[in-house]
Amino acid sequence: MCGIFGYIGKSNKASEIVFNGLKTLEYRGYDSWGIATLKSKITVKKRVGKIGNANVDDLPKSNFALGHTRWATHGGVTEVNAHPHLDCSGQFAIIHNGIIENYDEIKEELLKKKHKIVSDTDTEVAVHLIEEIYRKSTGKSKKENFLEATRKAFNRFVGLNAIIVMDAETSTYVAAKNGSPLAIGKGSNENFLASDAHALIPYTKNIYFMEDGEIISVTPENISIFDALTGRKKTLKFNKLTWKQTAIDKGKYPHFMLKEIFDQPKVIENIINDSKFQIINFSDIIKNSYGTYLVGCGTAAYACLAGTYIFSKISGRHLNFSVGSEFGYLVDFLTPKSLVIALSQSGETIDVIDSVKKAKVKGAQITSLVNSLGSTLYRLSDKKLLLNAGVERAVVSTKAFTAKLTVLILLAYQLAGKISEGKSILRECLKVLKEVLCRDNLNRIRKLVKTLVSQKHIYIIGRGVSYPIALEAALKIKEASYIHAEGFAAGELKHGVIALIEKNIPCIAFLPNDETYGATLAGCMEMKARGGYIIGISHKNHEVFDYYLPVYDVGIASIIPSAVVGQLLGYYLAIEQGLDPDKPRNLAKSVTVR
Ligand code: G6P
Repeated sequence: MCGIFGYIGKSNKASEIVFNGLKTLEYRGYDSWGIATLKSKITVKKRVGKIGNANVDDLPKSNFALGHTRWATHGGVTEVNAHPHLDCSGQFAIIHNGIIENYDEIKEELLKKKHKIVSDTDTEVAVHLIEEIYRKSTGKSKKENFLEATRKAFNRFVGLNAIIVMDAETSTYVAAKNGSPLAIGKGSNENFLASDAHALIPYTKNIYFMEDGEIISVTPENISIFDALTGRKKTLKFNKLTWKQTAIDKGKYPHFMLKEIFDQPKVIENIINDSKFQIINFSDIIKNSYGTYLVGCGTAAYACLAGTYIFSKISGRHLNFSVGSEFGYLVDFLTPKSLVIALSQSGETIDVIDSVKKAKVKGAQITSLVNSLGSTLYRLSDKKLLLNAGVERAVVSTKAFTAKLTVLILLAYQLAGKISEGKSILRECLKVLKEVLCRDNLNRIRKLVKTLVSQKHIYIIGRGVSYPIALEAALKIKEASYIHAEGFAAGELKHGVIALIEKNIPCIAFLPNDETYGATLAGCMEMKARGGYIIGISHKNHEVFDYYLPVYDVGIASIIPSAVVGQLLGYYLAIEQGLDPDKPRNLAKSVTVR
């Protein structure tokens, strides 16, 4: 969702630095962008659509700029609604991530006071409120008044928000946060700010992750931090990050999604080889808990659901599961003995963060399987296991999913006291993955895609641990190619969905070599009898299949190559239609609003 990048310092190339910073945040998903540059007065450039080949040569050379990529919430996708927004006088510019839930009431007040509000956004209201409070402030220095006005305005906002405000009079900016992520990067006589610390790594490794309820005042030489509620000064301690700037180019691949699909064997191999002690510690925590809840959203939710089957089957352990947005309504079950395992690639998904915070209030222990080091979830967790899948840039999640499955399989085997068996099936799984990703198989999938691309609906079935894989395959197809794909438990076929099956409707079935095979095959027969075009993803071919995609048997780890087939179907269905699978319409990589 919205990306934020700011620079203040010694370079007179602030606009370019911010522009490049925004490019590194593009993957978060956005529909318009804008930059404010201060050179005696604030100049704003805003555009609808992707940054593409744009440049900022028309912005003045300056040492102070703030930039924003907007994912629309309040107000349509227009240049006027894009950030930054100015107050009436043009002294202040604001960029914002979040939703000011009470903006209506504040807007009404400001309109009565003759403020000229030109956009439909909640954000613009904030900058006018700051202007209103600032104009009335007396006594202190301009810098202090600016900080105080921003602080007071921020405290009036209901909802989860991060705001960054530029002041043309004092050449400083103030940032406050309550919910959305903000990382500060400290250089020598220059300071950076971004919604994602990865964007700061090329400039500095001295990073501070702002906590909720903090407000900072920034000049090139100085950063001061305060409690947003009381205004009391706090001490600021930067951490030296040891992250390497992970390779974030596409390499030889035309899209990040394809690159990340091909990254998977290496990611899985690294997890098998490097996670021994983390797996032991984590599985001990699960063993000692009383009531364990897996929580995640989107693709991560399907990894959670798969986790319930994996733990049941391998270690005879019942784990509960809820999507993040629903977990808040189930926290009554939690006690201090409960364990929450939150799964998230970004570690910033607000529904997961909210869940974890509610569980904390109940005294539950919080753990996470998370890909982004330093993210909010990472910091909130009592114990975390880093997926180490590397930066995932395509909006459509791929390698983070299979990394989570790998960790869940290892944890379940560790809990069952059979870790060597777990490692061994995962190593076998790497061989099967190679076959799935080989040229012949890609051609087989591309050939199928030519048949599927003209379809309006695709149905996907699986049973047991293949049920979440069916759901995930459907999600990949929907996200990347916009074709309606619906995954469901094969047994549910007869309870409704079969009414939709008619001649030539594509029905994809996951049939691994486990106890679900026969029953899922029966589902294929039933769909075939109604004219369905059956695509079997299985360890062996069968006469009921109209099209066969092989995934050889590696026990429960077969779900990993099966999931990769779903990813490839989504990818090639997008390519066949000339779509960009890295940036699907309306979707955001990191969903930081409710
Ligand atoms: C968004 C992304 C999905 C992702 C989900 C959860 O909807 O588009 O790809 O699965 O968020 O994200 P997380 O970062 O928590 O895994």
